[in-house]
Amino acid sequence: MELDFCFHNPTKIYFGKGAINNLKDELKKYGNTIMLAYGKGSIKKIGLYDELMKIFNEAGKKVVEFSGIMPNPTAAKVKEGIKLVRENNVDFILAVGGGSTMDCTKAVSMGAANDVEFWDYFYMNYNPPKNKIPFGTIVTMVGTGSEMNGGSVITNEDVKIKTGVVYPNMLPDFSILNPEYTYSLSKFQMVSGICDMMSHIMEQYFSKPDTDNVSDDLSEALMKNIIKNAYICIENPNDYNARGNIMWDATLALNTLIGCSKEGDWEVHNIEHQLSAYYDVAHGMGLAAISPSYYRHIIDFGLSKFKKFAINVFGVSTDNKTDKEIALEGINKLEKFFKNIGATTTLRELGITNKEELNEIAKTCFVSNSAYKVMSIDDIKAILQNAF
Ligand code: NZQ
Ligand code: ZN
Repeated sequence: MELDFCFHNPTKIYFGKGAINNLKDELKKYGNTIMLAYGKGSIKKIGLYDELMKIFNEAGKKVVEFSGIMPNPTAAKVKEGIKLVRENNVDFILAVGGGSTMDCTKAVSMGAANDVEFWDYFYMNYNPPKNKIPFGTIVTMVGTGSEMNGGSVITNEDVKIKTGVVYPNMLPDFSILNPEYTYSLSKFQMVSGICDMMSHIMEQYFSKPDTDNVSDDLSEALMKNIIKNAYICIENPNDYNARGNIMWDATLALNTLIGCSKEGDWEVHNIEHQLSAYYDVAHGMGLAAISPSYYRHIIDFGLSKFKKFAINVFGVSTDNKTDKEIALEGINKLEKFFKNIGATTTLRELGITNKEELNEIAKTCFVSNSAYKVMSIDDIKAILQNAF
């Protein structure tokens, strides 16, 4: 554990079939007006909306609805939420959905509680918020880990920038995780979430320092658990145990635990975020399309780690092979895993048709200084062209 770190994660997690039973007591801690933040209707289809209304009613809460939060939430949507909070003196926000709803809620929480222009102040510049509207989450789409981290990713359509911030004081007060809520996800969304959590782990695992550390060992265990349970979920989407493993894997992947004493890379996320800013692609699918190309591009700069990954995560045999061959086989197996579960592994499959425009997108990507290889624009262009 070469690098110093601070680990502090105060989000309370209620996990399991009966987790919702804790909501009423949690709500007692806050004022009377609750804002229910959600997406475009899946929470109604699974009966959760009605169940929540009953709980709010029994708890004597006034409810303000903030609905229609879209995948890759926009700055305009955040502004709408901020206005609602201010007009109704909202005391607490309950975000019910996936990463988009949770992230939008965090932006609204910061934006409404502080007298600043939220985009410039919190997203274009790093300013940990002094105040926040307290919030909790109920997870229905698994992958981002937003339920137990301080991250929030927002797209500003006017300037074509999608960017994420991580504020240590913007973690949810509590999160409710019931794997049953995820049964209704389409295969596409489920797979997208699985690729997202795999990427979160890889982007911490494939980063300096590589001295022996328990964070990397935990990462390998999580990746193996995801691969095993992903196949079970594909076979039987209602397998509670497999869904539960996948749900908790996602949380552990990005609640800062496996990032302890690691620098983190995040270049795959940087590139995907800009793809999403130009094309409305599902986040996890974008990551699956970029990752193999990115890792092949940087393989020589972290060769021993890619070899370790191949052997420990994908069981690649070492007989009569060079380190590079072993490492490459690991990346090939990763790509095959993505394909097997039905992920999109090329940009074309994502609906991106303009190969030339990729060179323009490359110029807009943020560059990570902590990657095995710090990217030049030409590197990013090559990665995108090879992912096409
Ligand atoms: O809008 P509804 O009707 O709810 O439908 C949603 C949405 O269309 C649907 N869905 C959610 N739960 C469902 C369901 N459909 C059926 N049954 C259910 N139980 O799923 C669709 C996608 O939802 P979304 O929230 O967009 O997906 P995800 O969780 O992948 O979130 C993606 C966003 O999170 C950001 C991404 O960039 C993207 O904007 N990220 C946030 C991070 C963080 N806060 O730490 C880190 C991630 O790396 C990521 O960047
Ligand atoms: Zn992600």
